[in-house]
Amino acid sequence: MAHTGLILGIESSCDETAAAVVAEGSTTLSSVVASQFSTHAPYGGVVPELASREHLRNIVPVVRGALAAAGVALPQLSAIAVTEGPGLAGALLVGVTYAKTLAWALGKPLIAVNHLEGHIHAVLLEHAREQPTDGPALALVVSGGHTHLYLAERQQDGAWQYRLVGHTVDDAAGEAFDKVAKLLGLGYPGGPWIDGLARHGDPSAVPFRFAEVRRREARQRPSSAPTDSLLFSFSGIKTSVLRYVETHGLGASIAARAAVLSSLPAPRIADALALCDAQTLNLIASFQQSVVDNLVQRTLIAAERFGARSLLVSGGVAANSGLRSGFLSRSPLPVLFPSLALSTDNAAMIAAAAWPKLQRQSFAPAGLAAEPRLQLGLRTESVPG
Ligand code: KG4
Ligand code: ZN
Repeated sequence: MAHTGLILGIESSCDETAAAVVAEGSTTLSSVVASQFSTHAPYGGVVPELASREHLRNIVPVVRGALAAAGVALPQLSAIAVTEGPGLAGALLVGVTYAKTLAWALGKPLIAVNHLEGHIHAVLLEHAREQPTDGPALALVVSGGHTHLYLAERQQDGAWQYRLVGHTVDDAAGEAFDKVAKLLGLGYPGGPWIDGLARHGDPSAVPFRFAEVRRREARQRPSSAPTDSLLFSFSGIKTSVLRYVETHGLGASIAARAAVLSSLPAPRIADALALCDAQTLNLIASFQQSVVDNLVQRTLIAAERFGARSLLVSGGVAANSGLRSGFLSRSPLPVLFPSLALSTDNAAMIAAAAWPKLQRQSFAPAGLAAEPRLQLGLRTESVPG
């Protein structure tokens, strides 16, 4: 059957070069992701200059690969969609410039997508039918760069509207996973390592605490500002893990573990497990449980406060098994997650988010620029008349 409403999505905001072809925002014909893990792993984090170089190297084969896997030729496309932000400036620029050039050469419309909106549409792409149509959804976007709560609602004209109702005041949850993993001599990115090891430890062994976060209000002394239960803070728990490591003399075993793992060509969870004692596994399990409890608790408070009808949980940390089971066991509302492949960065979510925009002909200007600090929920879309 010939598909219609074909959108080529392109994503290059961080350390994955991705392209996908999605039909009518709901059928993924292909999704290709070139990950840069091995480039950045030796540095324990994303190096922006290296990310831009890898995107330049990967973008042409990744787009060609996505079109070939979908069996779609360029003239069949209805539009080209690209992540305009937020993200790394040099990384975004590669995708935006490539997409603009391709759209211009083909005479096809170009659609700009906010990366965060993309993460929300990763869930809607796969679960549109399970999403209640009456009332808003509460979306938790939890990744290496973001920990944001949005009230998301589809309008009568098909456009989605977002209201930012909660966010982190410092580190993102994924950043905490990455930093704690690095601190414990594990691999990069840290989330999958912590996730894989946490199930071997006792999550109640180390009682981490999250303080209530105070709002930063103008002209008010920080200590007298009211607390806000929809604000997150993840920098404190990273410091608490560091303090635990220091006071329990874990430094030597961490250095030994890091040395062994970095000497292996492709270290796996089983390798790390063999290098962790019970105390370290308990620390890892307790860290993960505390972050999960904090994310679940605040999301449920927001859902109740704003009368949400369902929860959409997306972003790299949505791949976490503890977070999935935490939400499923505690939420009175339906909770929808993307498949594991669409939890982390991909371009199918960008093509899916572009579909309602294509239907309303909400196209990007010819001079579209990369927007590293783009926000969601604070800007209204312009629709050409
Ligand atoms: O969405 P994503 O691919 O990129 C950003 O937009 O940031 O998310 C990457 C983040 C990293 O911090 C990574 O450690 C985290 O998602 N992550 C996980 C898991 N898989 C990836 N965190 C916890 N558990 C996981 N299983
Ligand atoms: Zn992301």
